[in-house]
Amino acid sequence: AKRRITAVDIAKRKNGDPVVALTAYHAHTASILDEHVDFILVGDSLGMVMHGMESTVPVTLDMMIVQGLAVMRGSKRALVVVDMPFGSYEASKEQAFHSAARVMKETGAGAIKMEGGEHMAETVEFLVRRGIPVMGHIGLTPQAINTMGGFRVQGKSDENQAQTERDAKAISDAGAFAMVIEGTVEPLARKITEDIPTVTIGIGASPACDGQILVLEDMLGLNVWTPKFVQKFGSIREHIEEAVTGYADAVRDRSFPGPDHVYARKQK
Ligand code: KIV
Ligand code: NA
Repeated sequence: AKRRITAVDIAKRKNGDPVVALTAYHAHTASILDEHVDFILVGDSLGMVMHGMESTVPVTLDMMIVQGLAVMRGSKRALVVVDMPFGSYEASKEQAFHSAARVMKETGAGAIKMEGGEHMAETVEFLVRRGIPVMGHIGLTPQAINTMGGFRVQGKSDENQAQTERDAKAISDAGAFAMVIEGTVEPLARKITEDIPTVTIGIGASPACDGQILVLEDMLGLNVWTPKFVQKFGSIREHIEEAVTGYADAVRDRSFPGPDHVYARKQK
């Protein structure tokens, strides 16, 4: 049996072949992605995509564990990374360890991801030293929407650029095996990727990053609205609509179920 890709495998991909990643929240999509991506992220974006929340702030640790387990069941090759949701890790490094250990034990996932730069570096190091592979997440950090005042592209001012660079270095020094760089001006993500030895995974960042990630439903064209940084590689929304109208019509004109879809009383 092929073994799963590990966080250690991903860490070796600096300046190598681009790391390919997508999000998934449930078993069927995970099973499709499994052979084609290096890691699957069970992102807290599930709050917005699956539950219609306006931000990721309300997502709970239990929600992440349920969906993380589903993705583990649906996959066998890709590394599965589970997001730590808002409120489950920021209070202290001990809180972060307890929450992350629950995720690792209850889902079997190979790594966790947490948002934050310099101020989270001590926590990242605490977890890594205790056997939990951590993927960082810097730049635009959606869990901070309420202090940012909205989803704001990072690195537009010199001051913010310098802070984001310090964040990248701190998370790298703390021992993260990789880090997501989200929603920054392109030259900043490029510079960070060149400056740090840690694998960078871009989303709304730069083609120079060591890998790329997108939210699956965004790139499939399932969501009504997609951000600027998303290329739609599919139009699944139209496909679903076509199937649903076909079904509704068939039920209404009694052409479904047909003879093939019903059970006979006796089988020979
Ligand atoms: O929650 C998520 O889907 C993410 C990715 C966009 C990186 O954090
Ligand atoms: Na996330």
